[in-house]
Amino acid sequence: MHLETLRWVGALPGHVEMIEQTLLPERSVTLAVESVDQMRDAIYRLAVRGAPAIGVAAAYGVVLGVQDLADTSRENVVGCAREAAATLAKARPTAVNLFWALARMKARADRDFARGLDGPAIVAGLLAEAQAIHAHDRETCRLLGDVGAELLHDGATVLTHCNAGSLATGGMGTALAPIYRAHAAGKRVRVFADETRPLLQGARLTAHELQHAGIDVTLITDSMAGRVMFERKIDLVLVGADRIARNGDACNKIGTYSVAVLAKEHAIPFYVVAPLSTFDPELDDGSKIPIEERPAAEITHGFGRRTAPEGVKVYNPAFDVTPARLITGIVTEVGLIERPNLARVEAALARGAARTAAKPASRP
Ligand code: MRU
Repeated sequence: MHLETLRWVGALPGHVEMIEQTLLPERSVTLAVESVDQMRDAIYRLAVRGAPAIGVAAAYGVVLGVQDLADTSRENVVGCAREAAATLAKARPTAVNLFWALARMKARADRDFARGLDGPAIVAGLLAEAQAIHAHDRETCRLLGDVGAELLHDGATVLTHCNAGSLATGGMGTALAPIYRAHAAGKRVRVFADETRPLLQGARLTAHELQHAGIDVTLITDSMAGRVMFERKIDLVLVGADRIARNGDACNKIGTYSVAVLAKEHAIPFYVVAPLSTFDPELDDGSKIPIEERPAAEITHGFGRRTAPEGVKVYNPAFDVTPARLITGIVTEVGLIERPNLARVEAALARGAARTAAKPASRP
């Protein structure tokens, strides 16, 4: 039912196949990614995008960097894994899932090195770790869906921004997962999708995947969000996140903050849906979240045609931060964080850490 954003093909050596998202919905093309540089490029170009999907892609990217080495000594394998992780870390700065996944991969290499494994066994361990990250994301999406579906009554209408669905994750999505789960349980749910300027993830991806799943979706431009709220068409807002600070400030696609302000004005609940891997425990609040700036051409040449005068100054931040005070709740895999603040976020992170500690680490 859900689109499969990316997958590892073969054993070792293998490669990654992903949906080339820049071409959707016009063309459905599968992209084969066979090297670290190709993976870095795919992430930067948004061929694969969305915070959790970027993490999974980067994890597989590390495997691509170690699977074909002429020198398979354990020292060289670990060194090349670190080099691949450093290259992939430069692909995009905002989504913390990228760094979370790369940290897991480096920790796995170090752990297996310390266990005395030889080079090929360390490579096999890295593939197992990337596959575990992928499986964890799939399972987490399902849990987010179950927790979030409780917020949706039969007949609910949701407004969403950007794409936080199956195309943005290794599973069924974050913000769209509650919609999929509620729909599967027989609830009627309707969605208004913001088109999401400038790269149109809402129009090209969210509308596409919801249509594909048979869910009632209506496309609007970003500037129409206030109007549909004023017309009382929206019951709640569900969005994803790229990085959440310890106080609950949540960074997501540019325009999300405006939606949150509009929701507050219209007394509409505003929920963020995100896995714990999207929380950055190093940041006290959202002010230090690095905001990616993208090329001016994304605004001046929307999809090929010039739409602005030559030489005009352009500012193109790809993300913004919604302060915690505008957030009704954050849906996580360990439950709903209502009216997020430092204490409640830390309690959820502690629950997540306890759950991870209770599970055995993945082994090849
Ligand atoms: O620039 P993008 O398309 O990678 O931005 C994606 C978003 O902002 C998503 O809302 C976010 O990553 C959550 S995805 C589950």
